[in-house]
Amino acid sequence: MKAPEVAVLPGDGIGPEVTRAAVRVLRAVRGDIECSEGLVGGAALERGLTAYPAETRDLCDRADAILFGSVGLPQYDGKPLPERPEFALFLLRRDYELYANLRPVQVFPGLEDASSLKPELVRGLDLLVVRELTGGIYFGQPKEQRTVEGVDEAVDTMFYRAPEIERIARVAFEAARARRRKVTSVDKQNILETSRLWRRVVDAVAREYPDVRIDHLLVDNAAMQLVRRPSEFDVIVTENMFGDILSDEAAILTGSIGTLPSASLGTRRVAHGRFGLYEPIGGTAPDIAGKNVANPTAAILSAALLLRYSFGDDANAACIESAVERTYADGLRTSELARATPALPTQGFTEAVLERL
Ligand code: IPM
Ligand code: MG
Repeated sequence: MKAPEVAVLPGDGIGPEVTRAAVRVLRAVRGDIECSEGLVGGAALERGLTAYPAETRDLCDRADAILFGSVGLPQYDGKPLPERPEFALFLLRRDYELYANLRPVQVFPGLEDASSLKPELVRGLDLLVVRELTGGIYFGQPKEQRTVEGVDEAVDTMFYRAPEIERIARVAFEAARARRRKVTSVDKQNILETSRLWRRVVDAVAREYPDVRIDHLLVDNAAMQLVRRPSEFDVIVTENMFGDILSDEAAILTGSIGTLPSASLGTRRVAHGRFGLYEPIGGTAPDIAGKNVANPTAAILSAALLLRYSFGDDANAACIESAVERTYADGLRTSELARATPALPTQGFTEAVLERL
C-alpha cells in the first residue's frame, strides 16, 4: 500500500513559517506520513508559473490531504482573479469540490482577556462555522467586468441549487449532533432569492433532525449577535460569502485570528477518511512575514484537523489539540497575544507545543 501522503503548500506571507511549524508537529506524532511540498499562490507566480501549477496539482491528486499555508500578496491587488495568488484556492476548492468548510472557533482558557470583548462574554466560547465553499457569489456566472455603451460595469452572480444547500445543511446538522445540538442558519431572505431557497431547504433538512434545534438569523443580525452573545452559538451554517465574513468576525472574538484552523472537505474518499484541504483562516499577514513572530497555532491545529478528517486519527488529533491548549494554559504566548509577558517567536512556541505532545 502507498505511504500516506500530505501535499504541503506553504504559499505566501507567513504561510511558509507557520506551515513549517505544523509539519514539525505532524511529523512528530506521525512519522509514517510523507510530506511533499508544492508551489502555490504568489510563490508560484514569482517563478513565472501560474498560481496553481500543474506540478502542484499532480502532487495534490496523489495526496490524501493538503496542508495549506496562505496565499495573497499586496503587489497583486487590482489584477484580475486568474492572475492573483488567491486563484489557487479558488481552483483547489472547485476542482476537488471542497464544499464543506469547517471553522471551529474556541477561546483557550487563559486567553479570555485577549479578546476585544469583555472576558465574561467569551469565556467558554465554542462555536463552529460551517461555510458553504463552492457556490454562491464566489462561483456564480456571469462574473465579469465589461464596458457597455462606454460605461464600465461589473457583475457577480449569487447562485445556488437546492442540492448544494441540502448537503451543506446536512454537514451542519451532523456536526451539531456531536456538539450542543443547535444550528443557526444565516441568510438574507428579506432581500435575496438565493436566501429564500436556502431557508426552505435548511428547514426541510431540519425535519430529519428533530433532536437538533434550528433557528434562522438574517446576516446583519447575526453579525451583531456574534459580538453581543457569542457563546450562545453552537453551529452556524451559511452560504459562501456570509461565511467568509462571519468567520473572520467570529475568529477575532478569540483575541487573535492566528489561532483558528479550518478544514475544507469534499466528496472524494481516501484510504482512511475524506480528502481535504486544511489551512489557517488568518491569511498571509505580509507585514510580519519572515520575522519569526507569526502565531503558528492555526496551522498546527489545521494539522490536527487533517489527522482527524483525512486519516481518521482522532487520537493524535486530540493529542495535538491538548498540547496546544496546555501551552496556552502554561502562559506561553506569541507576540500578538503577549501583552505584558515576554513573547515567544514562531519557532519557540512550536517547540513548546512539541515538548507537550
Ligand atoms: C478565506 C479567504 C479566501 C476567501 C480568500 C483568500 C480568497 O478569505 O478562506 O476566508 O475569501 O474565501
Ligand atoms: Mg476570509
